[in-house]
Amino acid sequence: MEVTMYDFSVISDDRGSLVALEQNKNIPFEIKRVYYIFNTKKDVRRGFHAHKELQQVLIAVSGSCKVLLDDGKESVEVELNSPAKGLFVDKLIWHEMYDFSDDLVLMVLASDYYNEEDYIRDYKQFKEIIIDQL
Ligand code: TYD
Repeated sequence: MEVTMYDFSVISDDRGSLVALEQNKNIPFEIKRVYYIFNTKKDVRRGFHAHKELQQVLIAVSGSCKVLLDDGKESVEVELNSPAKGLFVDKLIWHEMYDFSDDLVLMVLASDYYNEEDYIRDYKQFKEIIIDQL
């Protein structure tokens, strides 16, 4: 499956580095929500869901983690380890996050407000929805 990883422009000078994220420019949707995950445990996976409509960009602003992406046909493992990289997670992509470094802060930009109705939390149901779409 195709993985979309953004390489954000980094503006660096002798004071440090800066990345700017702008909706509908280097982020491919209107940003309605930002949340971040931290204080994670190395061996405890998170995620285990897909979304019906939501699109997201995941950025490890500190530390690193791995992300499994599964489109119902194949799955890939991606490492996030740079505040200058953003992983696009489209709707109908099952995802899991794991292998968190102690200093991980995973920031997520989302195309919509939090809505539990948009979640598919059962893998079997996810596969059925994917099959229905073929
Ligand atoms: P959860 O979906 O389990 O996190 P993850 O995808 O990392 O496994 O979310 C944890 C809790 O936080 C759950 O009770 C839902 C809540 N939550 C919000 O209230 N708002 C949000 O924007 C998100 C992402 C989660």
